[in-house]
Amino acid sequence: MCVVLGPASYGIADRFGLRRLPLLPLAVLAPDNPASSNAAIAPAGRGHFMPRNLAFACENPPAWKLDSSHGRSVVRERPGRRRKLVILERLCEPCVWPDGQRSIMKIGIVGCGMVGSASAFALVMRGVGREIVLVDLNTARAEAEANDLYHAVPFANPLTVRAGGYADLAGARVVVIAAGVAQKPGDTRLQLLQRNAAVLAEVIPSILDHAPDAVLLVVSNPVDILTHLAAKFAAPRGVPAQRVLGSGTMLDTARFRALLGRHFGVDPHHVHAYVIGEHGDSEVLTWSQASIAGMNLDEFSKVQGPGLTTQDKRQIDENVRRAAYKIIAGKGATYYGIGSAVARLVDVLLHDQRAILTASCRIEKVTGLSGVTLSLPHLVGGRGAMTTMPLPLDADEQKGLLHSAAVIREAVESV
Ligand SMILES: NC(=O)c1ccc[n+]([C@@H]2O[C@H](COP(=O)([O-])OP(=O)(O)OC[C@H]3O[C@@H](n4cnc5c(N)ncnc54)[C@H](O)[C@@H]3O)[C@@H](O)[C@H]2O)c1
Repeated sequence: MCVVLGPASYGIADRFGLRRLPLLPLAVLAPDNPASSNAAIAPAGRGHFMPRNLAFACENPPAWKLDSSHGRSVVRERPGRRRKLVILERLCEPCVWPDGQRSIMKIGIVGCGMVGSASAFALVMRGVGREIVLVDLNTARAEAEANDLYHAVPFANPLTVRAGGYADLAGARVVVIAAGVAQKPGDTRLQLLQRNAAVLAEVIPSILDHAPDAVLLVVSNPVDILTHLAAKFAAPRGVPAQRVLGSGTMLDTARFRALLGRHFGVDPHHVHAYVIGEHGDSEVLTWSQASIAGMNLDEFSKVQGPGLTTQDKRQIDENVRRAAYKIIAGKGATYYGIGSAVARLVDVLLHDQRAILTASCRIEKVTGLSGVTLSLPHLVGGRGAMTTMPLPLDADEQKGLLHSAAVIREAVESV
C-alpha cells in the first residue's frame, strides 16, 4: 500500500502556512515498511519548504508506528467525516522558535501606506505566511487597507489580514518596517534620513516589546542607513545585526535583471546580475559578474545577439539608477516593485529557503566594508543573513563599492 499526497493535504498546508502546490509531489510512502518511510518523506526538493520540516496527510492511516526518534516529531490526529487525517510534523533547527512556540506564520507590517500595503498585497497574492497584521499611526488607514486586502483573499491564498496595534505583533516571525515619510519629487533618499530615523527610534522598541524574536525587515528610506540604525536600536535587546535586514538593492537588482532580460529577449529569471552597495545614487551595477546561461554578457551576445554597446550599458545603468526618480515624477511613489521584493524576502525568511539576495545588512568580514550596512549578495535563511558573498569585482566596481560604503558611513555619522 502506498500513501500519496493529495488534496487532503491542502487543509494542512493552509493551517501551517505552507504552500499548497509543492505539497503534491512531496512524498510517496510505503507504510507497510515503516523503516523506509523516513527516507521516503524527504522533501521533493522544490525549495519551498524549510529543510526537514514536513507535513503530510493520508487517508485511512495505516497501522504503522510513527517514529519519533529523530528530532521533534509531533503527531496529531483529526477525525474527518469520511477520513482520518494524520499530520506528522517534524521540526528541526532553525525552524523551532526560541520560545518553543509553534506559532502560525505571522507577519507584521508597520507602516501601511503605499509600500506597506503593496507588500501585504504581494504576500497575499504569493501566499506567503498565514496571518498578516497591519500597524500604522493612522489606524483608520490600517483598518481600511486590511479590509481591502482581505477581500482579495478568496481570489488568492488563505491568509488572514487584519489591522492591529503593536501588541498584536506577538508571535510574528518577520516584521516589515515601511513606516515613514515617502520620497518627494526632487528629494534624495539621504534627505529623508533625519525624519525617518526618528520614526524608527520609536517603532523598533515597540515591535521588540511584543515580538522579541522577529526578524526585522526595514524598507523605509534611506534603507541602508535606517537598517544600520534599526540594528543599533535593536542590539540592546539582544538582537544580532544579522537578524536586521534591509530590502537594500533587491529592487535595483530586479530592475537590472529585468532590463537585461528585455535587452537580450530572455526571461529575467535566467539573468544573473547584482546591484550592490547603497540602495541609491551610489549603487554599483556589477557588469563584470553578469551572466546568462553560464556565459558573460559578451559571450552570450555572440550566441544570441543583439550585442551590448557602451551606449546600451549606459542606458541600462541610467534606467536602473534613476528608476525611482522617474516613477516618482510620474505617479508620486513606487510600490509594486518593492512590494514584490518584500514578499520574496519574507517568503525566504519564513521558509528558511537559503536564497542569495542583495538584501542590506551590516557587513562584518569583507575588507574595506567592515561595520558598514549595505547590499552584497547574502545567503539568507530563516534567521536572517547567514553568509556574505564577496564578489570578485573589477577595479571600477570595487572603487564604486568603496565609494558607496563611504557615502553610507558618512550619512550614518551625520545622524
Ligand atoms: N527600499 C525601497 O526600495 C523603497 C521603495 C519605495 C519606497 N520606500 C520607502 O518606504 C517608505 C514608505 O513609503 P510609502 O510610499 O508607503 O509612504 P506612505 O506615506 O504612503 O506610507 C507611510 C506610512 O507610514 C505611517 N507612519 C508614519 N510614521 C509612523 C509611525 N511612527 N508608526 C507607524 N506608522 C507610521 C504613515 O501613517 C503612513 O501610512 C518611505 O520611506 C519610502 O521612501 C522604500
